[in-house]
Amino acid sequence: MQHFLSLLDWSSADLKQLIEEAIFLKREYQTGGNRPVLQGKSLAMVFQKPSLRTRISFEMGMQHLGGYAFYVGPNEIGLGVRESIADVARVLSGYVSGIMARVFDHEHVEELAKWATVPVINGLSDYNHPCQAMADVLTIWEEFGGDIEGRIVAYLGDGNNVTRSLLFAAAKFGFRLVFCGPEGYYLDAETIRRAEDASFLDCYDVAETPEEAVANADVIYTDTWTSMGQEAEAEQRRRIFPPYQVNETLVANAPRHAIVLHCLPAHRGEEITDGVADGPQSRIFQQAHNRLHAQKAILARLLRG
Ligand code: CP
Ligand code: NVA
Repeated sequence: MQHFLSLLDWSSADLKQLIEEAIFLKREYQTGGNRPVLQGKSLAMVFQKPSLRTRISFEMGMQHLGGYAFYVGPNEIGLGVRESIADVARVLSGYVSGIMARVFDHEHVEELAKWATVPVINGLSDYNHPCQAMADVLTIWEEFGGDIEGRIVAYLGDGNNVTRSLLFAAAKFGFRLVFCGPEGYYLDAETIRRAEDASFLDCYDVAETPEEAVANADVIYTDTWTSMGQEAEAEQRRRIFPPYQVNETLVANAPRHAIVLHCLPAHRGEEITDGVADGPQSRIFQQAHNRLHAQKAILARLLRG
C-alpha cells in the first residue's frame, strides 16, 4: 500500500512525475475541466486541527476528479481517544478509498497508515507537511520553467514542519535550502542528516544573517513563528523572531527575480509585512491555489487503483 506521509518515502523520479501530472491536471482543469478519473472513489478527511487550504483543496480536488470527500472534525472520531487509531484505520478502510489526516503527533498518521488498507495522505503533522511542499515545488517550477535544480530557497524564521518538508523537497528536487533563524529554533540534526542522505546535491546551508540568506536567493520563504499547538509560546516567540521578518528592506537585498512564498495562514506584520505579501515578488496566492493541483496529482496516483 502506497501512502503519502513524507517526501523521503518517494523517489525523485516519482515526485517529479507527480509535479508533471499536477501541471497537466491544472491545465486540464482550466481548459474545460478534469476527466472523472476518481469516479466512485471517496476520501475521508480527518482533522485534529483547523484548516482552510488543506480541507477545501482536498474536498474540491476530489470533486473535480469525479470523487467524493467528507470532513471528519476533531470531536467526531476522537482519534486514539474514543477509539484506538488501529481500529479507526481498519474501520474506515472498509468505507472509503483513501484517508487524509491532519494530526498533532506524526506517529498518529504513521499509525493510521500502518493499519489502513487504503492509502493515507498526511495533511500536516507537527513533524512535516508534504502536500504543502509539493505545492511549493509546483510554484517554483512554474516560475522558473522547470529549471529548479541548483536554485536557492532562503527560509527565514522557525525551523518547523513546513521547513522540514521543504528541506526534504530540496533533497529530492535538487535545490538548496538556506536556513536563517534564531538559536534553538533550527531543524534537528537527524532531519538534516536524513535530508542529506537522500539528496543528490548539497541541499542544506545555514546563513548567519537574514541579509546573507537572501543575497543569492531565487525564493524567499517564511511561515508563522507559532505553529498550531504552540500557542502557549506565542508571546515568547513574538519577542525572539522579529529580526527574521520578511519585509521590504530584506527583500531589497535579494536578486530582483526572487519570488516570495508563504504556506499561509500569514500573520501580517509578524513574519511577513503586507508590502511583501501583496508586493510584485509575492506568489503566495498562486502557491495556495497550487495546493489544489498538486494534491489532485497525489490523489489520482494513490486512489485510481
Ligand atoms: N497551508 C495550509 O496547510 O493551510 P491550512 O492550515 O489552512 O490548511
Ligand atoms: N507551521 C504551521 C503551518 C500551517 C499550515 C503550523 O503547523 O501551524
